Amino acid sequence: MRIVLVGPPGAGKGTQAAFLAKNLSIPHISTGDLFRANISQGTELGKRAKSYMDAGNLVPDEVTIGMARDRMAQADAEGGFLLDGFPRNVGQAEALDEMLRGEGVALDAVLDLEVPEDEVVKRIAGRRVCRNSSAHVYHVVYTPPQAEGVCDECGGELYQRDDDSEETVRKRLEVYHTQTEPIIDYYKAQGLVVTISALGKVAEVTARAMEALQVDE
Ligand code: AP5
Ligand code: ZN
Repeated sequence: MRIVLVGPPGAGKGTQAAFLAKNLSIPHISTGDLFRANISQGTELGKRAKSYMDAGNLVPDEVTIGMARDRMAQADAEGGFLLDGFPRNVGQAEALDEMLRGEGVALDAVLDLEVPEDEVVKRIAGRRVCRNSSAHVYHVVYTPPQAEGVCDECGGELYQRDDDSEETVRKRLEVYHTQTEPIIDYYKAQGLVVTISALGKVAEVTARAMEALQVDE
């Protein structure tokens, strides 16, 4: 399957993608995670991306599209993909369509996670991520680790992302509304959008998503 996950920052895209990718046996491709991996490895691409991310802006398309294309080139051998955080504007959506057309394949669905803004702010404020794996995501109130600051799954250190400050979150939300939301209409015109509420327990949202995608768990 080829699925795009869309939703505001903090909606739970990364959290849901980890479960959905496992259930559907497809790779989870997150451009945010790819940028963060490049930053921690000190690559040129990471150095270019960091200032944009820290300010809550989108990294320029000429950097992002090439990176996404390289990662997706490996994905067809893996049975498709679950894209998280890409595309993030109409230009990227058009570039993705062109890439898929070139391969003679198409998207199956665009899963749109809906969450009220006050909940998004609470989710981001309490988020803690494992240094060893971006798939290990916690929330200090909703899904706390057993020992404070330590990942249950691997013992890694939990940290707060640099772009999770209140000011940057406000900017990321604004960028979401102005630049990313238009892709929902773009995909609606292709009949691909399924919208679900991302409120409730993590497992409830996963079940809702699987049902919306019409796949058995
Ligand atoms: P990216 O990493 O994609 O960040 P984002 O879209 O802002 O999304 P988040 O990672 O903040 O949230 P999420 O929806 O994954 O939520 P999560 O599951 O963690 O992008 C970061 C930056 O990179 C961008 O600002 C941009 O600069 C750059 N970038 C990336 N892609 C780009 C692109 N294509 N083009 C240009 N630039 C790009 O959950 C949040 C919290 O809530 C966690 O603590 C979690 O435990 C908790 N939670 C999750 N679900 C629930 C639930 N059901 N109940 C209670 N708590 C929950
Ligand atoms: Zn971990």
